[in-house]
Amino acid sequence: MTYENIKVDFRDNILFLTINREKALNALNSRTMTELHHFFFETAPKQDDAHGIVVTGAGEKAFIAGADIKEFLEMDTEKGKELSRFGQEVFYFIERFPKPVIAAVNGFALGGGCELAMACHIRVAGEKARFGQPEVNLGIIPGYGGTQRLIQLIGKGKAMELCMTGDMIGAEEAHRLGLVNYVVPQGEEVGKAVELIKKIASKAPIAISKIIECVNAYFDKDVDGFDFEVDEFGKLTGTEDFAEGAAAFVERRAANFRGK
Ligand code: CAA
Repeated sequence: MTYENIKVDFRDNILFLTINREKALNALNSRTMTELHHFFFETAPKQDDAHGIVVTGAGEKAFIAGADIKEFLEMDTEKGKELSRFGQEVFYFIERFPKPVIAAVNGFALGGGCELAMACHIRVAGEKARFGQPEVNLGIIPGYGGTQRLIQLIGKGKAMELCMTGDMIGAEEAHRLGLVNYVVPQGEEVGKAVELIKKIASKAPIAISKIIECVNAYFDKDVDGFDFEVDEFGKLTGTEDFAEGAAAFVERRAANFRGK
């Protein structure tokens, strides 16, 4: 698939995904969602030598200003359900991607933009970033998992308030609430995300993928997260990387993990 609305670069063993519709503040129109689906289902899984993915928005103003409201003019109940279902599917897959996915939030992260950031494993915000779920101003609700993931990150009371008021909050407030992991000077979001991916890349890759699965298992109503953890812990003790990690500790040297 040729990408028109997203830009993909591969440098230093990191995939950089940029939502590239600067004039529309990187709003997620249907073409962009299809490209995101393709990227996360086809392109990224095949890049074996990637240590992780950094997601950001083109330009200085916006990460993503939400779903493309101009496409909403043609909406009806069936199309609305389809849009929400497809977006949830893409974001569910981002959340479960087996390597770290970090949002570098460089500006407005509104509606579907805040939802995409929340689906990433870690969020780094520039100090001018603004977050919000303003769908209520349009007479709708968040549709890409926002009502669920906002509760997971900031708790029920604040999630209710942000969704019901449609208010925007700044990066510092988002940090205080636990919505973002770091606030950095404007323009340094991608650099901080790279630093985090490099640090994580020095750890055992299978263990990293299992951490992602286990943490997500907590939110899966059909899975007992504690049982799941027991199984995955047991499997990891049978890996070459575990033997290497334990030996390296005893021999007082750095571990050389090989993802086996
Ligand atoms: N969809 C489509 N176009 C958008 C857009 C969006 N979500 N957000 C901004 N744009 C476009 C504007 O229409 C404008 O384009 P034109 O010049 O061609 O009209 C351009 O981006 C610049 O935007 P503004 O002129 O509005 O810039 P501003 O600085 O005055 O305001 C803003 C910035 C506060 C982010 C404002 O653009 C805004 O409120 N955007 C909409 C935010 C929103 O409501 N997002 C939720 C969408 S619904 C959703 O996401 C549902 C879901 O969960 C799936």
